[in-house]
Amino acid sequence: MIKKEWGFDSLAVHGAESMDPHTGSVAPPLYQTSTFFFHNSDHGEALFKGEADGFIYSRIANPTQQCLERQMACLEGGEAGLAFSSGLSAIAALIMTLCQTGDNFVSSVTIYGGTHGQFQGFMPRVGIDAREVRATHLDEIEAAIDDKTRLLFIETPANPNLDVIDIRGCAEIARKHNIPLAVDNTFATSALQRPLEHGAHIIVHSATKYISGHGDTVAGVLVGKEELMTQIRKDTLTPVGFCISPFNAWLLMRGLKTLAVRMKRHSENAMQVSQYLSFHPKIEKVYYPGLSIHPGYELARSQMYGFGGMLAFEIKGDREDAKRFIDTLELFTNAVSLGDCDSLVCHPASTTHSTYTPEQLKEADISESMVRLSVGIEDPQDIINDLGQGLKRVS
Ligand SMILES: Cc1ncc(COP(=O)(O)O)c(C=O)c1O
Repeated sequence: MIKKEWGFDSLAVHGAESMDPHTGSVAPPLYQTSTFFFHNSDHGEALFKGEADGFIYSRIANPTQQCLERQMACLEGGEAGLAFSSGLSAIAALIMTLCQTGDNFVSSVTIYGGTHGQFQGFMPRVGIDAREVRATHLDEIEAAIDDKTRLLFIETPANPNLDVIDIRGCAEIARKHNIPLAVDNTFATSALQRPLEHGAHIIVHSATKYISGHGDTVAGVLVGKEELMTQIRKDTLTPVGFCISPFNAWLLMRGLKTLAVRMKRHSENAMQVSQYLSFHPKIEKVYYPGLSIHPGYELARSQMYGFGGMLAFEIKGDREDAKRFIDTLELFTNAVSLGDCDSLVCHPASTTHSTYTPEQLKEADISESMVRLSVGIEDPQDIINDLGQGLKRVS
């Protein structure tokens, strides 16, 4: 039995009533089934009419997926959760439920490149206008809102340059205009940042990242008010078929057990790496919100419980120098994605953010010589030694 007063680390380990009272199974059961039998035809009809409780078909709901959803809601401090096949399907479902053709939403120009691609490529095809502004400037957000705006969507810390966006300030603007504020909490996770505590209404996760933690799953999660989550399930998740597989939901619950300890280690390692890079003569600039020189440092301290495992830096030189440096690394894996136990490195301008035009990259403050690190949980000295040997090898 979990207790409300428990701290985050205990809640992450114990889950939300994930034990199975029928069998005594301590690990949450994996219901690897597509469909559920009816006791008789009247029972089937009652389930379809919503007059009986129970499961029908795993595209609509499944007990393993429901267990994950309860756990994510518990960790974020929200009423209900919804699990998806990917982070991008969670974002699409949110927007397509809140916006109709002719509506718009306001977001930031500095966000994950795939999200930017969905906002600028897919959404206009269904008549929804994504207005991307510099979300570090609250006045730009407010100026972009009009009577057709249905949502304010931010990502903080932002991918890839770790911009820290003022959640309380955005929540105030959202309240004033009577629209919900959604926060993509992928980089921080609920272990290090719980935006609902600062007035946000909806939490978005690419659960592919730190929630999984092991680089073996693609998934997404939303958390928010029960009424909205029910509406998204009914209007978009089920009819479009954005459902998560039971096995992926099960893997995420396994990942959540170690989320708190992993995030502490990621944060400690990233802090050491960022300090090392800040003093390196071949580095132009380091982007890590835990460094007091970062413009978002004070804000991060006021809305986060830790600074996380993501950082970026600019190498002295150009795009080709950054790519050459990445190719020298031995402990780091050159791959997109983030949040794994293993350290990962990528060159955003040519990979994760290649959906941006050169002008958009400039506006988003993503330089051609930027390198992004997802600092893993290996020995910090080995991580630093690898970066050091790589920097020695670039001119
Ligand atoms: C901050 C952020 N949000 C959303 C996504 C999209 O998630 P997924 O790849 O699970 O669809 C990503 C992917 O990298 C991300 O970094």
